[in-house]
Formats: sequence, C-alpha cells, structure tokens
Amino acid sequence: MEYKRVLITAALPYANGPVHIGHLAGCYLPADVYARFQRAKKRDVKFVCGSDEHGVPITIRAMKEGISPQDVVDKYHAIIKDSFEQMGISFDIYSRTSNKIHHETSQAFFTKLHKDGLFEERATEQYYDENKDMFLADRYIIGTCPICGNENAYGDQCEKCGSTLSPEQLINPRSALSSAVPVKRITKHWYFPLNKYEKWLNEWIVNGKKDEWKANVYGQCKSWLDSGLQPRAMTRDSNWGVPVPLEDAKGKVLYVWFDAPIGYISATKELTNQWSDYWCSEDTKLVHFIGKDNIVFHCIIFPSMLKAHGGFVLPDNVPANEFLNIEGDKVSTSRNWAVWVHEYIKDFPDQQDTLRYVLCANAPETKDNDFTWKDFQDRTNNELVSVFGNFVNRTFVLMHKLCSGRVPPVHDDLVTDADKAMVAEIAIAKQKIEDYIENYKFRDGLFEVIDLARKGNKYLQDNAPWSLSKTPEQQAENQKRIDICLHVCLQLTANLAILANPFLPFTANKMCRMMKVVERMLEWENAGKMNLLKVSYPLRAPELLFRKIEDMEVAAQVEKLKSNLTKTTSANVEQTSTDPSTKAQDDKIVETKPEAVAEAPIKKAEISIDDFSKMDLRVGTIMKAEKVEKADKLLKLELDMGDEVRTVVSGIAMHFKPEEIIGKQVTVVANLAPRKMRGIESRGMILMAQNPDGRLIFVSPLEMAAAGSEVR
Ligand code: 2FM
Ligand code: ZN
Repeated sequence: MEYKRVLITAALPYANGPVHIGHLAGCYLPADVYARFQRAKKRDVKFVCGSDEHGVPITIRAMKEGISPQDVVDKYHAIIKDSFEQMGISFDIYSRTSNKIHHETSQAFFTKLHKDGLFEERATEQYYDENKDMFLADRYIIGTCPICGNENAYGDQCEKCGSTLSPEQLINPRSALSSAVPVKRITKHWYFPLNKYEKWLNEWIVNGKKDEWKANVYGQCKSWLDSGLQPRAMTRDSNWGVPVPLEDAKGKVLYVWFDAPIGYISATKELTNQWSDYWCSEDTKLVHFIGKDNIVFHCIIFPSMLKAHGGFVLPDNVPANEFLNIEGDKVSTSRNWAVWVHEYIKDFPDQQDTLRYVLCANAPETKDNDFTWKDFQDRTNNELVSVFGNFVNRTFVLMHKLCSGRVPPVHDDLVTDADKAMVAEIAIAKQKIEDYIENYKFRDGLFEVIDLARKGNKYLQDNAPWSLSKTPEQQAENQKRIDICLHVCLQLTANLAILANPFLPFTANKMCRMMKVVERMLEWENAGKMNLLKVSYPLRAPELLFRKIEDMEVAAQVEKLKSNLTKTTSANVEQTSTDPSTKAQDDKIVETKPEAVAEAPIKKAEISIDDFSKMDLRVGTIMKAEKVEKADKLLKLELDMGDEVRTVVSGIAMHFKPEEIIGKQVTVVANLAPRKMRGIESRGMILMAQNPDGRLIFVSPLEMAAAGSEVR
C-alpha cells in the first residue's frame, strides 16, 4: 500500500532518571535514522515522543529522594529532553504526559470505552502494605518469579525471563517500599477485556502477515496469544497519575500503560491541529520504535485499546530492539552501571556522530549486544576516521593541491571502466541503504555507507593522483586524469553526505559547509547524481569530520564506570544520589545490598592532591539520632561540629540503633552540597567503612578529638 504519511513514535521514557546509551541504541537512534530518512525522501513525517511521567517508577523515585513526584518529573524531563536534542534526535515534538492536553486526551479515551460499556468493574482482593498504607500493584511489589525463580521479580513483570506477571503469581511477595509481607484488601478496578480481542489479534498479527515483523517481536506476540489473554485492570489506587474520570473513582488513576501510549496521540495533538490526519487515516504508516520490554504493550494491549475505541490507525510495524550491555555486564541503573548520555556529551563535546555511529553499527537489532569503550575506540578510529573521514579529507586536500580548490571537469575521452564502476557503486549503495532502512536494518544500511567510502579510498589509491604529479611537468601531462579522479571523488563525497545523513547528521551538515551547498542537497532523490557539485565551483578547506579516540580516554571511561559503580554501593547511597548519574533509570527497585561491595572491589582512578583538598573533612560528634519516618534506611543525625550543630541524614538505619551511636565521633564531608531527603535538609555526609560481609563501621578518630577538627 502507498502511504501518504509516516507517523513515527519512540517509547516515552520514564522521567525518573536521565537516559543512557542503551536507551539510545535500543529505540531513539533507530527511530531517528528512520525519521531522517523518511524526511529526506520528502515524505510527510511526524516523529513524536515525550516523557512518561506517571506510574510507579516516578513515585518510587520521589519517595527515595524525599521530593514530590512533580519535582522528579520536572527535573528529569528537562535532562532527558536536552540529551535527545544534543544527540540530534529529531523529534517533531518532545512532550510530557503531565500536560493538560494529555490528561484530557487519555481521560476522553477512557470515557469513550466506559460509555461503550467495555470495561468490567471488579472488586478484588489486592496486596496492601499496612506500614505504608497503600495498595501494592505493579512494581510496588516484589517476589519470586514462578517461571524462572528470580527472587526479585516485580508484580507486573520478571525482568530475568521476560514473563508478564500479576502480583498474585509472585511467590513470597513483599512490599518494595517497606519489605513488609503484604496483606490482602478489597479494592475496585476497571478491567479491559483483553480476552475478547484475542481472536481479532490473532487475525491481525498471525494471519495478517505480521510475520514480517522482526522475529523477536512476532515471537513474543505469538507466545502471548498462544497462552491466552486475560482481562487487565486499567486503573490503579494512587494519587499520582491521570485521575479516572468517573464519579465513583476517588483515589484512582489510569494505569500508566493505559495512559502512556495515548501520550503518542496527545503529543501529536499538541504538535498539529491536523493530528487526526495522522492518527485516523488508513493511509498513515504508523511505526512504534521500542525496546524489547515494551513489546506486549505496543503489539497486544495498545492495539486492542485502539481497536476498541475505533477510528484509529494501527501500527504497521513495531521494530523493537534487544538490550545493549555495557562492558560485558547488563545495564543496571540501580548499580549505576550505565553510560549516561548527558555525561557522554560533557566528556566528548562535538562527538555526537561518533556515538551515533558506534551505537548504530553495534545496535542490538536481533540479539543483546555489548558496548565496550575499546570497541568505541576501534570503530571510531578504524572506520569513521580511517575510512570515511580519511576519504573525504584526502579528496579535499588533493583537490586544493592539484585542482586549484575548484571542482575539476570530466574529460570524456579519458574516462575508464574503473571510473564508471566507481560511479555505478554509488547507485548500488543508494538502493541497498534505502532497502535496509525501509526494513529497519540500520546496521546493514550503515555498513553500506562505510563500505562505499572504503571503495572510494581504494579508487583514490588505485588512481593515486599524487603519483601523477610529482613535478609540475608531470602534473601538466596528467592533469586530465587527475581531474577525472578528483571529480569522481568529489561527487562521491557529496553522495556520501546524502547517504550518511540519516545516521550522521552532524557530519553531513559539516560536509555541506565544506562543499558550500545548501542542506537541500541532502534530499534522498539526489543520491546517485554525479552533478551535485558544479564544475569550477570553489570549495572550502576540509574540516575535521571525526577525531581519533585516545587510549587514555578509553581507560578514563572504563575507570569512571567502575568508580561510579562503587559510589552507589556504599552506605552513603542516599547522599550520592544528588548526582543525577546515580539515579535509577528504569523501574527496578533494587535495594542497595552490602554484598555488592564484595562483588566489586574496584580501585578508583588516581587523583591529585588538589582533588583531595577540595574536600572539607571534619570530626563531628553525634548528639542526637532518630529514625526518619517512612524511610527504613535513614537516620537523622545532629552533629556537634564545633562551631555549629548540623543535621545530616544518613543511610545507616539498617545497621545501627539510634540510641547506640549517641556520643560517637565520626568523619563528616562538611562541604557536600546540601540536599533534602524526606523533606529534611541534610548538610554533609558521614564516612563509613564497609566490611566485605556488609557490616558498617564508623570512620572515627582513635582518641577523642575536638568537635569540628579538620581531617587531613
Ligand atoms: O518502559 C518505559 O520506559 C515506558 N515508559 C515506555 C512507555 S512507551 C509508551 F507507551 F508510552
Ligand atoms: Zn522469571
């Protein structure tokens, strides 16, 4: 079918932490390559995304930080949006689900289904945490997975085996908030009868040629359908989320997986008054880019909701990627084992395309893949710099040296088969890249771009214009062949800019500047043309497209990963979490386990005396200690610091009784930026040693020291 419009969505990330490179590789980068390609094809494209600001991940983060859910989403929405912008992810809109338009849109959606009599109202017994006074749905509850035995499976999903679960299925359930064993209480909810859509889904997915979908996506759908679908509650007991728009639904909100995908619709509404052209016309091609943990929601639940509502287009494809591991280990945001995008941008300014390249070349398209900094270096140095950058640079340098800085002419009588073959390769590559991108095979597409540059290098090497111009006389004699070779290389450079543009947009723009052409040249239909640069047109000096990555940079990044990991394994986890890089990004609720220290006895990077002297370490005497309400791990301490009494909140409550530590002397990082925890301002951090068995020991002076003494 010929589509008139392409509507591209990328999964709305939870605004409970910054995004890491696994997010980019899994979903946002492929979506961006696809969107840029579709725009270059001059198709009518809308590329929408936004922050997912509801649900358990947000409220858990808020509880951990002692701030409101609104504060959490405001903070991370800004960081995430900026990371995407910096990386050139070209959303037409990056919205957020706390917006009024989204609340209205998702409530209207719910109301329509309700009025149509679709929901089943059910009063059922659900797990309840008596310590925290709340029902425990989804990720508020943890227990053992009945399928694989993972002891930390969530109430909605086991991340180890990928099974979708309900809290009732968990063995030995416990509250994620207090670790208490929950009791059962009755509560009413509105259930979407997914079972009634089973037949239709089978028709649509299994008989509807969706086996063209990626094998991982189709396989998951098939296994869901084969095991039979059950009604699913679309509401939750919570005060954070979109309120259920019914009289008798006080204290209830829409289930986050009900409202979040509707976020794609609300974002489009916010973007354009013509939103219904994109959502309600059969000639729209709707493509959802997601990570593999979102497959069921985008292929089974959301399509059933759209079908039930009626009037909406269904996804044509849902290209889900697998996961990207880091240095051989699964990304863990709770252990801070991740490469954060906002940090990459700080550490590698102006190297966005380098990361885009490596993540796309190594994308987890069909299986989980591993990102290593060594591979980042190798691919950058051996492919981007040595092949692509080198070809463009050599072409420009030679053109300036041997053709007076202008595009040389072609001399038909001297054109060889090798010249023609090189030209033919451009058209072949264009077709291959196009097919690959249309079929969501971005790695293969990118490989073709590099391969074309590699062929350019070989062509240049075979012709070796430098060896034809060793003396002015020799150059004069060979000028026509030199002209032809550099003409072909320059037109190839212009073509490479077009073909690389979806993947490496910053580079393509730089190349346009060097060639003094407008960005319109990057339209896809121009690829394959050999007159993109006019003969005699003067071109600029070459700019450095990419730079080499040094061994030291690789070592520093590996070190950073390891030392960040140790940060979150100390008892001071609550303190260090002011740094956004240590935030849990996903909705994992992994309590910091002392054993983690024993697992990772990693040495930190060397620091200078200046680094050390930035710390104001002082002796403090504990005068008062008390438990912080509703925070099992926190103690509020009052410390005599000599010239003042300070309040410090410390994550040591599991290790010490308040009354036991009065009078103890401790070492305090006195100039740590203050931060609020559970509404209490903590001004400093106390240092603790941690035994391999997890026991915490105060770092105290051997003899009584005057309170406030400096530790040096
Ligand atoms: O897994 C996640 O990060 C979810 N926030 C994705 C939501 S995608 C869509 F449905 F909004
Ligand atoms: Zn499992």
